[in-house]
Amino acid sequence: MHSRVQLPFGRSVKRFMPRGLLGRTLLIMLVPLIVVQAIALQLFYGNHLSIVSRRLSDAIAGEIAYTVELLHQTHSPADREWVLEMAREEFLLGIRLEPGAVLERRKQANILGPMDDDLAAALRQKFNVPFTMDWTSDPTLVLIRLQLPDGVLDVQAPRKRLAIGTLFLFVGWVVGSALLLFGIAALFMRNQVRAIRRLARSAEAFGMGRDVPMIRPEGASEVRQAATAFNRMQDRIRRFLAQRTEMLAGVSHDLRTPLTRLRLALAMLPRTDELRQDVTEMTADVEEMDRMIGGYLAFARGEGIEQAEPVNLSSILDDVAAGARRAGTVLDLDVPADLTLKLRGDAVRRAITNLVDNARRHARHVALGAVAQGRSVLVTVDDDGPGIPADKRESVFRPFESGSSGGTGLGLTIARDIVRAHGGEIVLEDSPMGGLRARIRLPV
Ligand SMILES: Nc1ncnc2c1ncn2[C@@H]1O[C@H](COP(=O)(O)OP(=O)(O)OP(=O)(O)O)[C@@H](O)[C@H]1O
Ligand SMILES: [Mg+2]
Repeated sequence: MHSRVQLPFGRSVKRFMPRGLLGRTLLIMLVPLIVVQAIALQLFYGNHLSIVSRRLSDAIAGEIAYTVELLHQTHSPADREWVLEMAREEFLLGIRLEPGAVLERRKQANILGPMDDDLAAALRQKFNVPFTMDWTSDPTLVLIRLQLPDGVLDVQAPRKRLAIGTLFLFVGWVVGSALLLFGIAALFMRNQVRAIRRLARSAEAFGMGRDVPMIRPEGASEVRQAATAFNRMQDRIRRFLAQRTEMLAGVSHDLRTPLTRLRLALAMLPRTDELRQDVTEMTADVEEMDRMIGGYLAFARGEGIEQAEPVNLSSILDDVAAGARRAGTVLDLDVPADLTLKLRGDAVRRAITNLVDNARRHARHVALGAVAQGRSVLVTVDDDGPGIPADKRESVFRPFESGSSGGTGLGLTIARDIVRAHGGEIVLEDSPMGGLRARIRLPV
């Protein structure tokens, strides 16, 4: 049992998490980067910017206030014109007085950024009179109109004096650096991920008993390590299999020689009345031993050399069915026309033949079927015989477990060995026909 700590939001967060290594790595790098940049922007730049923006607004409001104050002090039109002229030159403000005019109220459109609010606050602070601002009619100017006691003061302030362009520069920097990092990381991670994917594919194929070439280690050192370990494991398993087969063949072969001698000696024994019975029994035993050894030898010989290649499973099943029918069995066949899989054809034929032979031995009516299902192919062998009780369905797979059938007891052992070497599985179940169902699943 293993338990994992579940965060309360774990499930919903997980749904939005990228599933692949590439996506996750990029996320791990980018999220902190963006958060840090955003905090930096807010803490340092945000404060700084709002101060600067307020100062700029204060400056313009102050200059206008100064001009208005001078206008209050002067009364002759020539002096007033002089004041306005000075304001235009020194403050770079387009400034005009419209004597007797009344300020018309207009709805004021807001613009992006703090500029307009800051300027409005500064004007309110300096003047206790109604005013309007127009930020939208001219892209380079702000049009401010103030109600003075004797008319309207029209001010055109260059927007440049208020704008803080570096804000966009900084946002651009944040986004740009994130994109750049994303690109570089994606480029490098892709190679690592590719190496891991190839390792996974090779392991999968090897598990299905296919011949996979050694993987060339590449990528980060951990990935290389995994690839090297996989290569070594593959090598060890191959050697182990070869060794096992060799030993099996050797033992079986060596046992045959003394067995043959024994059989010859038995044949030479005089068949006296008191010996006849014993000799017949001993001969039967020797025959059985010979059959068992023959089975092992055939099994051992068949293994090892054959390579997996695309094979038409349907035609293998057709052949097996035809063979059983020739031998006089009633057999139903239900197989799609073309099931092509990467298999060791002879081995799979032997496995299925073993199952069909069992069914024929124990039953009168046999059914052989196959169906493609997702990423596997299911092959079923059904019969209407006595079946095998559920608690014996595992033990019959053991070698030489032949019950009273008179067989060697290797049929199911060999069948399971072959199917497992293809990365598949074989199970025994109740058949809808009443007897036993052997079900083979082979990965595609
Ligand atoms: N279709 C079946 N119905 C009932 N019992 C079965 C069936 N198939 C197998 N068995 C039982 O399982 C045992 C093991 O089967 P297995 O094929 O391994 O050996 P065998 O048939 O006895 O010998 P071999 O196949 O090597 O000639 C059989 O002896 C039999 O008792
Ligand atoms: Mg059998």
